[in-house]
Amino acid sequence: MKHKIILDTDPGIDDAMAIFFAFLSPQIEVLGLTTVFGNVPVEMSARNAQTLCALAEQDIPVCKGVGMPWVGKESGYAHFVHGDDGFGNINFPPAKIRELDPRSSAQFIVDMARQHPGEITVVAIGPLGNLALALRLEPALPKLLKGVSIMGGAAFVRGNVTPVAEANIWNDAYAAEIVFAAEWQLTMFGLDVTNAVPFTPQFLEELKLGNNKLGGFVRDAAQFYVQFYSQNREDKVCFFHDAMPIAHLIDPTLFEIQGGHARVSTDPLNIGQTSVALPGTTTSPDWLNAQQINVATQVDKVRLTQLYLDTYQA
Ligand code: RIB
Ligand code: CA
Repeated sequence: MKHKIILDTDPGIDDAMAIFFAFLSPQIEVLGLTTVFGNVPVEMSARNAQTLCALAEQDIPVCKGVGMPWVGKESGYAHFVHGDDGFGNINFPPAKIRELDPRSSAQFIVDMARQHPGEITVVAIGPLGNLALALRLEPALPKLLKGVSIMGGAAFVRGNVTPVAEANIWNDAYAAEIVFAAEWQLTMFGLDVTNAVPFTPQFLEELKLGNNKLGGFVRDAAQFYVQFYSQNREDKVCFFHDAMPIAHLIDPTLFEIQGGHARVSTDPLNIGQTSVALPGTTTSPDWLNAQQINVATQVDKVRLTQLYLDTYQA
């Protein structure tokens, strides 16, 4: 039985690698791409998502979602990580199989959840504004979705935007607070696991060898991304954060998952911090009354890497 997913995304180089990984996996059925601001403005997210679908010959809905955080000013975006075009400045010609779906990302998530009750996992690999808005459109959404898996947060490690906050949460902390407090099965793949698996230029070459078109695109786009991640390092690496929640759906044994009460900070100093209280570590009602989530705390690097290479093998 394939996993039905909606990929909520801000492509983005690691998003692109994750999106192709999902398209190529026989265990995954992608019902649509719902886009959000984050790495790039939402208009570029949407255009890039259409281009990725065209390159992969996937004629599926692509929706444009929220372009602003729940609270506060417009994002500064992460062009310094993903390039001016979101694809490492490779100036890949925009393409599309179909026009954008007329629905917003949030409305598409709600419509699909109502159409396939209990069957869909939303895999959110960007800021969480679309999921928060979908919850406001349909308060019963937690009962209509099978689950929510996110790339985001940092439970027991440092952040990557501030000492305590990871980009997807920091970019829309109020939306994240709403999402973390909802009563769905939420599994968080934070920097605890995604920063634990660096990928080398050799891995990129192997992706291209295995799949010249899609692996080659990732390899080319990731050259800029490797430069960013390799500053102040002896070695050259990058991190494919966004593919991990998809890998978990395909093979849960790749990960150690722990349950805990989670809270998202929205105070100015710690905004975007995702703090998790593991069982028995607190008696504070502020924490014990917080929603329980699942947190990925360990990953089998060797088997994960092999799964990526095997799946990209055309
Ligand atoms: O912190 C990493 C996350 O932020 C990834 O999803 C990356 O694509 C960016 O959105
Ligand atoms: Ca992303």
